[in-house]
This record gives sequence, C-alpha cells and structure tokens, in this order.
Amino acid sequence: MTSRLVRPALQQLRMQNQVRSYNGSTSARPTKNGCHIVDLRSDTVTKPTTAMRQAMATAEVGDDVMGEDPTVNELQRRCSALFGTEDSLLVPSGTMGNLISVVNHCQGRFQEAILGDRSHMFLYEVGSMAQFAGVQCYTAPNQADGTILLEDIRNRIRVKDDDHLPWTKLICLENTQNKCGGKVLPLSYLAEVKSLANEKGVKLHLDGARVFNAATALDVPVSDIVQHVDSVSVCFSKGLACPVGSILAGTKDFIFMARRTRKALGGGMRQAGILAAAMLSSLDTIVPRLHEDHSRAKKIAEGIMASPSNKVVEVDVPGVQTNIFMIEMTKSGGLTPDKLCQRMSQVTDAERGHLGSSVSALMQPFSETGVRLVTHNDITDEDVDRTISKFQYVLTELSQ
Ligand SMILES: Cc1ncc(COP(=O)(O)O)c(C=O)c1O
Repeated sequence: MTSRLVRPALQQLRMQNQVRSYNGSTSARPTKNGCHIVDLRSDTVTKPTTAMRQAMATAEVGDDVMGEDPTVNELQRRCSALFGTEDSLLVPSGTMGNLISVVNHCQGRFQEAILGDRSHMFLYEVGSMAQFAGVQCYTAPNQADGTILLEDIRNRIRVKDDDHLPWTKLICLENTQNKCGGKVLPLSYLAEVKSLANEKGVKLHLDGARVFNAATALDVPVSDIVQHVDSVSVCFSKGLACPVGSILAGTKDFIFMARRTRKALGGGMRQAGILAAAMLSSLDTIVPRLHEDHSRAKKIAEGIMASPSNKVVEVDVPGVQTNIFMIEMTKSGGLTPDKLCQRMSQVTDAERGHLGSSVSALMQPFSETGVRLVTHNDITDEDVDRTISKFQYVLTELSQ
C-alpha cells in the first residue's frame, strides 16, 4: 500500500511524466479530464521544446565560473554579435541581470536611478535595487505607449553640487513594456533618451526581457535597439521558451564588472552549458517565429472585440503590438478582473453543450480594471480559435 508520505511524491512524478510526454510530441496539448487548457497567463509558462531538450542532453560543458564552458562561451559570442555589443554574460534571471546593471552603473553612495512607475524593475523585483545596490528609485509616469516623457526624465535628473540631493547615475527603460501591454518603444525615442543621458553624464540601461519581441515588431535587427543603450538584460525564459537564463550585454569593462557582481550575488553557475544549449536553440528556432505569437495575440484581441453581445470588456486592437495585451474592464458594470479570469478558467455543462468542447482559458488579473493575456510558443492556432469561441460564449453570458 502506498504510504501518505510517498503518495505526493508519486503524484509529482506522474505530473512530470505528463509534462514530458506533452513536450515530446507536437500533437499532444495540455488537457485535464478532456478539457483543453489554454494558458495565456504569461510567456514564462512555456516548456522547453524537443529540440532544446536534445541540445541540452548533448551539450559540451565545462566550468563556466572558470570561463571554460564552450557552449556558454559560444552563446555569449553569438549574443554579443547579435546585440552589437563588445561583450555579454549569461546570468540566471532577468531580475539578476537588471540588479547587476544597477550595481555596476551606480558605484558608490548617494545614487539614484530614474525609472517608469509601471516598470518591472520598480514594481516586481522586490525592491532589489534599494535592498542590494543601495540605490534610490525616482519614478516617472509611464505613458500608455510605454515611454516616459522626455521632460519627466529631464526634470528628475539631479546632478547638482548640493548636499541635499542624491546623484542621478542611471535611467532605466523597458522594451517591450509589459505593464503597458507589451508596447514597443520607438527607435527615435530611444535615441532621444540616450542623447539626454549623454548630455547629463548618466547611463541608460534597458530591461529588454522581451527585446526580441520589440525587434520583431519593428522588423529590425535587435542591435538597432541595443545601439541606444549602455547595457541590456534579455530574458530567454519568456517568449524565447527556455527553462532558465538571461543575457546581460554591454561594453567589455561593464561585463568584466558584471562577472564579479554575478559571483557576489551567487549567480555563478558551473556546467551552465546545458542551459546555454537551450538558449542557442532558441535563437535558431524560436526567435524567427516570434511574429506568430504577435499575430495570434492580435487575432484573439480581434475575436474578443467581435463578440456580438459584449458589453463588459474592451481591447485596444490597433494597440496590440506584440505577444502581450490587456483587456480593460472600466465599464464592466461590477464584473472584476478576478471574476472574469475565474469564469474563463471554468467550463459549465451548458457551455460544453453549446460549444461542443471544453476549454479552460487561463489569464492574469493585472490591475484593478485590467486582465493580461500573453501568447507564446505553446499557443497554437487551434488554441486561438478555442479561446475566441470561449470568449464569445462567456462575454454573451456575462453581458446579460
Ligand atoms: C519586463 C520584465 N523584466 C524582468 C523580468 C524578470 O525576469 P526573471 O523572472 O527572469 O527574473 C520580467 C519577468 O517577468 C519581466 O517581465
């Protein structure tokens, strides 16, 4: 008989096996009791592809803290070339890449960084720049298009010789801007912020967790974006579908210091080539298909707005630029983001009868009045059609 202690472990193993068989084949989709699960909560939910798993299994590895992992070295070489930077460095996460950048750009005390009030670095990194870099955040409003007004940045730069003031050392931008709905910052805007930063002797860091999505949307090489910043942190564990890993890129001097800061933060990894192998595979197989995620997001947005009797939600369809968009519920008559997400995840008997299938669509409440949807490598055209049918049914029900 299975003991109480052993049972959860067995369940865990069974779950892992399900995941494995799902990823091993392209036809199997995540289902539970015959219900199709369409997971639109985040692009972080992506599972590594079969190609990635094979690359990981056969990767040549060495001790990366000693600089001897050939696969990591190859990844860093390729990323430097792609980004047009002198050097780059594998780090475990986007949060660590951003923190290392703040530590490096803001050496010494009494220092301040300007960043958007809807930026990931300010909202969702546990206040790490205050905790570990000792740097104060000075936020400025993010506009709906993800930018921060140039005047708002200029007015916050503090470089005067006045004992009352901290010194501004850094400006941080985010591209694509997640909380603003995956918005892409225009290249001309990046150039303007960089020129202001240069004028004031301040560095510019880019949280480029989804910079490949930005480059795809602009249809430019990613280096066209990165040329305007002093450092960039790029996540491979989001739309790029890898299990772990980010790349930090910048000058040789910046990366020299970044390597030391990474070690101090406990981010030095040994045979990290197994992660780098997945990341290299992603550059070859996932980056070229990111435009599919963008058109799928747009199609879902259009499908939502085409719901004939919808009175509760709104999507700015022309504003859908990448793989992330927001549903706004400011005129929802009391329906909350939580309730909408809950209803979209459930399947009723009446709905099953009407649609002829069971679909559970998972989404994230993202503000008091907003829900976020994110497409990614594990969302297919069939998932898009299922999600639209589900939305049209549920919105009719909720609009009565
Ligand atoms: C815009 C942005 N920056 C940074 C991060 C942090 O990345 P990580 O989860 O790898 O620490 C995230 C994570 O979702 C993000 O969306």
